[in-house]
Amino acid sequence: MSEIPVEAPEIPAQLPDVRVAVLGAGKMGGILLQAFLKQNLFAPDQIHATVAHKERATVLSTQWGVDVSTDNLEAARQADLILLGVKPFQVPDLMETILPALNPSKTIVSFAASVKTKAIEDAAGIEIGVIRAMPNTPAALGAGATALCRGRFVKPAQMELAERIFETVGRSVVCDEKHMDAVTGLSGSGPAYIYIIIEALAEAGVKVGLPRDVATELAAQTTFGAAKMVLETGYHPALLKDAVTTPAGCTVDGTLELEEGGLRVTLIKAVMRATERAKQLASD
Ligand SMILES: NC(=O)c1ccc[n+]([C@@H]2O[C@H](COP(=O)([O-])OP(=O)(O)OC[C@H]3O[C@@H](n4cnc5c(N)ncnc54)[C@H](OP(=O)(O)O)[C@@H]3O)[C@@H](O)[C@H]2O)c1
Repeated sequence: MSEIPVEAPEIPAQLPDVRVAVLGAGKMGGILLQAFLKQNLFAPDQIHATVAHKERATVLSTQWGVDVSTDNLEAARQADLILLGVKPFQVPDLMETILPALNPSKTIVSFAASVKTKAIEDAAGIEIGVIRAMPNTPAALGAGATALCRGRFVKPAQMELAERIFETVGRSVVCDEKHMDAVTGLSGSGPAYIYIIIEALAEAGVKVGLPRDVATELAAQTTFGAAKMVLETGYHPALLKDAVTTPAGCTVDGTLELEEGGLRVTLIKAVMRATERAKQLASD
């Protein structure tokens, strides 16, 4: 007997009344948009995305099955929720373009690094709810870390909506806007630091004789497991480190090398430098 095809039941979109514009559906905008679709937060016909290049719009429209164009004003007109995903320096021009489409009932969520909510509010010239978000690329696998902060005119329901959106791509925290550049330096850029650490650990595994694929898998899974321990036990990382460190054992020899090599200070300085740079991006 031939197999009977089973079709998954269509789950209704979870926010059926919200129309979304993703203005600047590049790497991060694309990750968010695809997560919305995958989790059925929005149906394809609720989303209108934009990019700069017409050819890319055509390709993405076919790939994602949503309306993708280069018409920011039209996309913003149709939307209740407007996501700003262009580069920080492009935000002022984009705001000028979409100005006629804005009104106080709409919500703007910007994930452009460094651009302050006040700059967006001032560009809008009306009392519109502006939320700033700083996601990171592991959002692509639902393992993102996002910080959100509210502008002056954000209503509780708008904040709830933003939190709901970023829930689809991982964990999120709400913080004061004064901390957003620090968030950018820590978790926005952070995946790059961790990849370097994983790469270095894998290289170390190769140095002590492991095949590269085994070393890479062990290094990555160890990083993942350690992060999961911190998040799920709630224990201080130092306490978890102590639990691995047997007196006169091998771990303490390893950590001694890390201290001598200045790993801690190096990581602290990396986040400080990235935070400083994050402060400047909007004025580039
Ligand atoms: N990547 C990250 O890890 C990350 C993390 C947090 C926040 N962010 C923020 O996300 C924003 C985008 O970064 P990204 O890494 O996603 O960059 P990206 O891949 O270059 O995406 C930018 C997108 O904006 C589009 N675009 C440019 N001008 C436009 C216009 N006038 N109208 C509509 N679309 C326009 C580009 O279109 P084309 O594709 O046609 O060129 C591109 O798709 C930045 O502000 C960044 O600070 C990024």
